[in-house]
Amino acid sequence: MISIIGSGRVGAAIAFLCISNELDDVLLINRTKSKAIGEALDISNAVPENSNVSIHGTDDFSKISGSDIIVITASTGIYLKNRTEMMVAQVEMIKQIANQIKKYCPSAIMLIISNPLDVLTFIFQKETQLSRNKVIGIASSLDSSRFRYLLSEKFQIKQSKIVNALVLGEHGDSMVPIFSRVKINKKNAIEIINEAEKQIITTEIQNYWKSLRIFKSRSQFGIAKNTFDVIRSIIKNEELVIPASIVLNGEYGEKNISMGIPVKINKDGVKEIIEIKLNESESRSLKISAQTIRDYIKSLNNQ
Ligand SMILES: NC(=O)c1ccc[n+]([C@@H]2O[C@H](COP(=O)([O-])OP(=O)(O)OC[C@H]3O[C@@H](n4cnc5c(N)ncnc54)[C@H](OP(=O)(O)O)[C@@H]3O)[C@@H](O)[C@H]2O)c1
Repeated sequence: MISIIGSGRVGAAIAFLCISNELDDVLLINRTKSKAIGEALDISNAVPENSNVSIHGTDDFSKISGSDIIVITASTGIYLKNRTEMMVAQVEMIKQIANQIKKYCPSAIMLIISNPLDVLTFIFQKETQLSRNKVIGIASSLDSSRFRYLLSEKFQIKQSKIVNALVLGEHGDSMVPIFSRVKINKKNAIEIINEAEKQIITTEIQNYWKSLRIFKSRSQFGIAKNTFDVIRSIIKNEELVIPASIVLNGEYGEKNISMGIPVKINKDGVKEIIEIKLNESESRSLKISAQTIRDYIKSLNNQ
């Protein structure tokens, strides 16, 4: 069973993908019970004929017991200028959710989606003391999808012609697109993109959510698909290599933070952390990003 905590826009979109692709039964948990019930009633009609999967909605956390995967998409409100705007309330919320999970289902693999992503992934892992391989923050793969999209638009080619577009570090203003590994139509991106263009694309990726909000209230489908891919990889035990946020223990020279780095996922969660070679400027930017997350975590201790 897949339990999804928070039945808002993102939670419902993930549930829809899981159910329509018959991955497993889904349980929606929401603060306001009626929303979970309503979304479950709607998504129930997307169960394919002859399928055994089902979906239910509740506000009762005890029902998550026995889940294989728990996805956290809960949010106490909507940020307007920065993902860390509601950090204190979000941290309080994730601690409460962590307590419920410790009580009812500590053996599941946890996927954190709620923002601020890296801070919440770190706090959740510390609160639950679960293996860091089982607490995965999903966001850098979405940022990488955005990187790929922006490059495809710039060069007016299909996204399939863009390979290895990776974004690492914070899911926030300091995120780091890794240009040195990207291939565009089989050519090295760094040979065809100059420094000024790199800077423009970097800013566009960092601000993608703001540009999107000019036209739509908030993003939901990109993160839903990226999360669905991780859930499928775990359930089907099909290895998936993506950037995701995990608590670091010396990898990339960092400790005591969670941030987006390349990982290999399988049925056990994170099977392997992959250390890739970065150029000097990328390494420097990643250090700054790590420090940004560390500062946010430290600021919580001073509250
Ligand atoms: N990782 C990424 O790349 C990425 C991408 C997009 C969005 N996000 C993040 O994902 C989160 C969800 O976004 P959204 O657009 O789906 O938000 P949303 O539509 O506002 O949904 C959030 C839901 O969480 C529920 N909730 C709040 N506290 C809860 C609790 N303690 N237990 C259970 N449910 C609770 C709310 O319930 P009520 O009905 O009572 O309000 C609401 O239905 C946000 O933090 C957003 O920033 C992350």
